[in-house]
Amino acid sequence: MLKRLSILAVFSALVLAGCVASPEPAEDDRLYQALGEREGIERIVEDMLIRVTDDVRIAHYFRGIPLGDLRDELADQFCELAGGPCEYTGRDMREAHEDLDLSRADFNALVEHLIAAMERHHVRVPDQNRLLAKLAPMERDMVD
Ligand code: HEM
Repeated sequence: MLKRLSILAVFSALVLAGCVASPEPAEDDRLYQALGEREGIERIVEDMLIRVTDDVRIAHYFRGIPLGDLRDELADQFCELAGGPCEYTGRDMREAHEDLDLSRADFNALVEHLIAAMERHHVRVPDQNRLLAKLAPMERDMVD
């Protein structure tokens, strides 16, 4: 009897432990999905960088910058922000942009190209706005 009770106790403890350690609820990755997952995000970022480096207002900032690396960093960052399974490991936004002396107009120009790239890749406007809302607070770290 005692043996049966102790087996029951161990079993209950295991069940309880299982409950406590139950998996986290699934992360909200709807924006990640809406952007076309990692592949879609890479395409959007690449398209944005082509437009940015073709825009006389801001192209000069990107001269001499390894664009393949920048694309990968941006894709990691957007993917993580959108709830995807990525980790951005680059510099924080203040540090990455502090020597560039960016203006609000520069920031807006880049956002303009990001919107055009998302349009081109058929991202719905509410989803575009979701990504933009995550990026907007970064402006204060980049623009003086
Ligand atoms: C929402 C706006 C922006 C976001 C999310 C963003 C994001 C990033 C990221 C993730 C990096 C890589 C940092 C690293 O390698 O550690 C970076 C670097 C860079 N960004 Fe931005 N950026 C933004 C706006 C701008 C604007 C407006 C410009 C210029 C017009 C710009 C120019 C650059 C340049 C030139 C680099 C490379 C700096 C270097 O390697 O020294 N960025 N940005």
